[in-house]
Amino acid sequence: MKTIQLQTGMKSLKGEIIIPGDKSISHRSVMFGAISRGKTTISNFLPGEDCLSTIACFRALGVDINMDDPDKVVINGKGFEGLKEPEEVLDVGNSGTTIRLMMGILSGRPFFSVIKGDVSIGKRPMTRVTKPLSQMGAIIDGREKGEFTPLAIRGGNLKGIEYTLPVASAQVKSSILFAGLQAEGVTTIYEPSKTRDHTERMIRQFGGEVTSDGLVVSVKGGQNLHGTDVYVPGDISSAAFFLVAGAVLPDSELILKNVGLNPTRTGIIDVMKEMGADMEIINQRGDEFEPIGDIIIRTSSLKSTEIEGDMIPRLIDEIPVIALLATQAEGTTVIRDAEELKVKETNRIDTVVNELRKLGANIEATDDGMIIRGRTSLTGGTVSSHGDHRIGMMLAIAALLAKEPVYLENPDAISISYPEFFTHLQSVIE
Ligand code: S3P
Repeated sequence: MKTIQLQTGMKSLKGEIIIPGDKSISHRSVMFGAISRGKTTISNFLPGEDCLSTIACFRALGVDINMDDPDKVVINGKGFEGLKEPEEVLDVGNSGTTIRLMMGILSGRPFFSVIKGDVSIGKRPMTRVTKPLSQMGAIIDGREKGEFTPLAIRGGNLKGIEYTLPVASAQVKSSILFAGLQAEGVTTIYEPSKTRDHTERMIRQFGGEVTSDGLVVSVKGGQNLHGTDVYVPGDISSAAFFLVAGAVLPDSELILKNVGLNPTRTGIIDVMKEMGADMEIINQRGDEFEPIGDIIIRTSSLKSTEIEGDMIPRLIDEIPVIALLATQAEGTTVIRDAEELKVKETNRIDTVVNELRKLGANIEATDDGMIIRGRTSLTGGTVSSHGDHRIGMMLAIAALLAKEPVYLENPDAISISYPEFFTHLQSVIE
């Protein structure tokens, strides 16, 4: 097992980082480029392993995809009808977004396909997508009655449905929307809490129509989508590690450039401001589809907070690093309503609690979240990413707060969403 020694010793961070492309938007831009007619040019694409898995799956479906540079992708789409029955099993690697969204696309295609991923994907629940897609008319099977991969799909002849999501999940919503675009009639989804709306925005960007009114999203089948140019904003979920690092390390000031500021994703900004973070957003811009800005973060004096309810989907992927932040805030931070963390790349309630405890944090797991008592000074130890990219990056930031040596097992998982993470971190350490 590969193990590396992490930088430690309360370093201060200074300088600027251009945040790499958003993972959710990169996936979707490839998917929409593949199912639309004409040329799509994607710039600032995230060449992380997850997004490369999406490209590999569409190539296996016969789509012409070129990567001139790692962050520039050109797709010559031929519409949904251009997708061909794959000869091999489609492999999504570690990517939950790829498998769940692809299932929606494959469910509408009149051919047979099998889709699988790595060991982590094999443990993640799929009934949340196979159930509504089966109701729409797809024939799907998999281990444990379609709950686990590999999943086999015979698609086609879908009918629009009205569906209430049992959990707030953008992946499930998006999967049903992709099926809805291929279904007869209208498909309407009711969300329990608002989740990221990149799919809805991108349907419009590719010339389609979708209505969203609060928690209700509707799409009509049989629309013509056409290829377009997509600029992918920087990923706020990647910026999150530097937002926390800049706030908790001494004498620090970081400028994080080009960060996507879609309001369904900015929960971490709201929570950090409430905790007392010295943060400024400048240069707000973006196209008509996704807002962008630069964020300045400085060393901050932080107090604890409570995070729950509708806030959770707005920062679900940032909870590991917010837990670390809370170890450096005065008082007790409580995170509730976050059961979904148990079915991410790892059980993120357990991995966050166990790994941060190894470094001396005062943190406890609950059924639906965690309780963190601050402030604590962190110590050395050997920790593991458990193959979960966000756990790996959170621990690399935690190590900076320790004086004794910290070792990280399985650091390569970080390339799933942020291949340049260590280079960027090194460039701002004083
Ligand atoms: C994602 C949605 C979220 C998030 C994941 C990416 C997306 O998952 O955790 O990293 O791109 O739609 P859920 O929809 O399962 O909550």
